[in-house]
Amino acid sequence: MSDKKSIILSGSILNIPFYEIPEKIRIAKEHGLSLIHLDIMDGVFVPQLSFGLSFAIQLREIIDLDLEVHLMVVNPEKFIAEIPDKLFTRVFFHYESTLYPLRLIEKIKNKGMMAGVAINPSTPVQNIETILGEVDAVLVMLVEPGYGGQVMKHQMLKKIEQLNKLRRENGYSFIIACDGGIKIDNARIIVEKGADELIVGTGLFNSPRFPGIIRDFLSINLPR
Ligand code: DX5
Ligand code: ZN
Repeated sequence: MSDKKSIILSGSILNIPFYEIPEKIRIAKEHGLSLIHLDIMDGVFVPQLSFGLSFAIQLREIIDLDLEVHLMVVNPEKFIAEIPDKLFTRVFFHYESTLYPLRLIEKIKNKGMMAGVAINPSTPVQNIETILGEVDAVLVMLVEPGYGGQVMKHQMLKKIEQLNKLRRENGYSFIIACDGGIKIDNARIIVEKGADELIVGTGLFNSPRFPGIIRDFLSINLPR
């Protein structure tokens, strides 16, 4: 086993014009990207609408990369019931969107997918402490959810550290994912604080250095 920790890079396609999505993903794959992040928004949990499950299913048919979904919807129970088994590698629901996170986690796992809980910037890590033993992933939002291209809130770094500490102390196995405002310049500090997965939208697909920048992200590695 390598003595370096290598990161998981997930490409968020939210800000790519629809007609460019298949081609951009194809190029990104050629340059080493292996995971695509789909942001599903319902116009209620967040102000915008993005795309729905039918789009994800269509994408699944033409793309052979892993897909993960980030549900920014008010009724994740209803939504998760509609997801075909194993469509996604990981399903992130928002802690703020449900009264029954444990039930949701079980439903996602029963469909053969990893269950992740996402927390908004204003939600303290303490709120999810009691479910950390059950989840496969925690998504720390580094910006308010709903839009690509925002600036990372630096206060969020502390939450990554807290999660990393809780994981170590309790022997939990969840991965720590971070989403929003990640650019090549701040990626390293986020990983140093304990993040395992970086979800990057405009910092990747809209970078003047796309697609070469994918390698730059993937070469961020730290001693274990
Ligand atoms: C925002 C979404 C993000 C977004 C990230 O609510 O959850 O996944 O696409 O985009 P950037 O990397 O541009 O902040
Ligand atoms: Zn997202």
